[in-house]
Amino acid sequence: MVITTVLNGRAGMPAFKDDINDADLAAILTYARTTWGNKGAAIKPTEVAAARAAARAEAKARGLQAH
Ligand code: HEM
Repeated sequence: MVITTVLNGRAGMPAFKDDINDADLAAILTYARTTWGNKGAAIKPTEVAAARAAARAEAKARGLQAH
């Protein structure tokens, strides 16, 4: 999912979870999904918060230390 990619990073892409808050990331992704002719749906700050919480819960379940 696009939200988790930006929160947690992937391959060569760094994680931004400590640097971009829910409202800002929602705005960034909504911008990317609605400009340059893109017709994606807007991303809400509540969706970013939910993805953040899910990633945290998953890391805890796997016994990974939060950082
Ligand atoms: C807020 C800024 C950024 C956004 C919104 C963003 C968004 C994304 C997204 C959505 C993907 C996945 C594309 C796909 O699914 O095919 C991606 C992949 C990637 N991004 Fe970013 N990105 C950002 C900043 C950066 C920065 C600063 C770097 C490098 C320093 C970077 C490097 C990469 C790389 C290398 C990939 C490919 C990862 C892979 O092979 O799986 N991104 N980015």
